Amino acid sequence: MSLTSHRPRRLRTTAAMRRLTTETRVAPAELVLPAFIREGLTAPTPITSMPGVVQHTTDTLKQAVTQAAELGLGGVMLFGIPGVRDADGTASLDPEGVLNKAIRDVRAEVGDALVIMSDLCLDEFTDHGHCGVLDADGYVDNDRTVGIYARMAVAHAEAGAHMVGPSGMMDGQIAAIRTALDGAGHASTSVIAYSAKYASAYYGPFREAVDSQLKGNRRTYQMDAGNRREALREVKLDLAEGADIVMVKPATTYLDIVADVAAMSPVPVAAYQVSGECAVIEAAAANGWIDRRAAITESVLSIRRAGASMVLTYWAAEVAGWLKEDR
Ligand code: PBG
Repeated sequence: MSLTSHRPRRLRTTAAMRRLTTETRVAPAELVLPAFIREGLTAPTPITSMPGVVQHTTDTLKQAVTQAAELGLGGVMLFGIPGVRDADGTASLDPEGVLNKAIRDVRAEVGDALVIMSDLCLDEFTDHGHCGVLDADGYVDNDRTVGIYARMAVAHAEAGAHMVGPSGMMDGQIAAIRTALDGAGHASTSVIAYSAKYASAYYGPFREAVDSQLKGNRRTYQMDAGNRREALREVKLDLAEGADIVMVKPATTYLDIVADVAAMSPVPVAAYQVSGECAVIEAAAANGWIDRRAAITESVLSIRRAGASMVLTYWAAEVAGWLKEDR
């Protein structure tokens, strides 16, 4: 074999050559925009640890989802921040509650042009900030929580969610939600399961975004950062319980998990590029230490390359705008 016969660089010679031979692309339709709406706001409020991300009013949320649809995004994931919280998170079940109302408003605004996803969890609604209700010892009560999730799922479906996103990491939540949806005549409402959700330091800015009341941590329900095999166990359980899409969260510090799940999942795999992942890039870019657009593009690409078929990211609209420019 001559020295020159194998030259991978031949496929890197021009931009057109690299475009032709790239193994991974990102399309707007694979991006999902998370959005926050806060009850009682009269103007959108910036979230300091998430530059460019706001707590929306009803009006600005409608504008954001209209823009998302125009950009051809895959969907939106809605989070609500209620005015009043209590131990059981009862505002989550109120059809006039902030999230259920937001789902209705967004559905009325964009119809079926986007997949409307809703965060199905109690942490924004409880006064202690946990993802479920507590027992007498202060431990998150799995089964009572799952019962509330089932009712929440029906409320979201009735408000017009196409897909509910249980993010609380309770055991058996997918089965309970599926059964409740089917029983209430919502057999077509799908479930995007946060299957492998880790107890992560990278959720810090999100907790500011939802004004989290949490003291302590979520380590008795979210996964341990050291565990890889366990992610497959969680995914298999969710698949058996009827998950339509399985998700890994966070994304960039868990790309091995994304790849493992992508290798075995018969359903689409999502990954959530969480608030802290964005914060580290934004902070470095603000200091002039990193090229912001290049770093964001590379981070989203890496999640797709690892095997995620869709990415939830706060940069969804911005990245989609760049993809349009690049065409
Ligand atoms: C909890 C929830 C979390 C996120 C979304 N829903 C994590 C948590 O507070 O433990 C994190 C999203 C992010 O950091 O961007 N229901």
